[in-house]
Amino acid sequence: MTNMILVPDKLALATERNVQPAVHHQPNGFSDRFALGFTKLLRFSADRLFAKRYGHRAIVLETVAAVPGMVGAMLTHLSCLRRMRDDDGWIRTLMEEAENERMHLMTFIEIAKPTWFERMMILSVQGVFLVGFSILYLVSSRTAHRVVGYFEEEAVTSYTLYLQEIDEGRSPNVPAPAIAKHYWKMADDAKLRDVVLLVRADEAHHRDVNHGFANKLNGQPDDPALVAAYPDHASEIRLHV
Ligand SMILES: [Fe+2]
Ligand SMILES: [Fe+2]
Repeated sequence: MTNMILVPDKLALATERNVQPAVHHQPNGFSDRFALGFTKLLRFSADRLFAKRYGHRAIVLETVAAVPGMVGAMLTHLSCLRRMRDDDGWIRTLMEEAENERMHLMTFIEIAKPTWFERMMILSVQGVFLVGFSILYLVSSRTAHRVVGYFEEEAVTSYTLYLQEIDEGRSPNVPAPAIAKHYWKMADDAKLRDVVLLVRADEAHHRDVNHGFANKLNGQPDDPALVAAYPDHASEIRLHV
């Protein structure tokens, strides 16, 4: 059902909105409840700060979203070195997630320009979040991946609401930025709406991957068939090499 996320038509969007609550990991135990509670607290803060300014919201939150993948990749890498064991492909998956989130940022910076207040907020939030998430990952990587899974559930919801803003004419459906057309291999006449659909599909993929990692660390079965499809991305991400 989650794979419909890639189908860019109104019916699919309506269906996706309706199935949203179904794509939710039911918290099980303290670790999951902590992860969900922390996510809801951040969601509440983001809602107060940005309301419906989705372009600005995307920029600030993508600067945060690109941190966990890199922290998880580095700490998993160091742990594999110490234990002299295989990573099961986790390191590259997490580095790819970090790069993908940074490309979301590079895309939305072409759509909206952050205010000075937002730039200051990005600086301080990065410091606090980097330290906090690294400690959490060292204490419980299972909880850390669950936090990212829940963050991504919220990201999917936010981008669904952004699509609604565009569809109802409150956000202009401007042409897609050149960097987005290159990265997602989009048509020349692609619009912002097409970009948001692909960003949302990326987030749905990260959501399922991170919930899967948390399940695995919890000794539960991890079914790769349940992971939402990942859009195709350019292998050389820079526009001008
Ligand atoms: Fe993102
Ligand atoms: Fe994300």
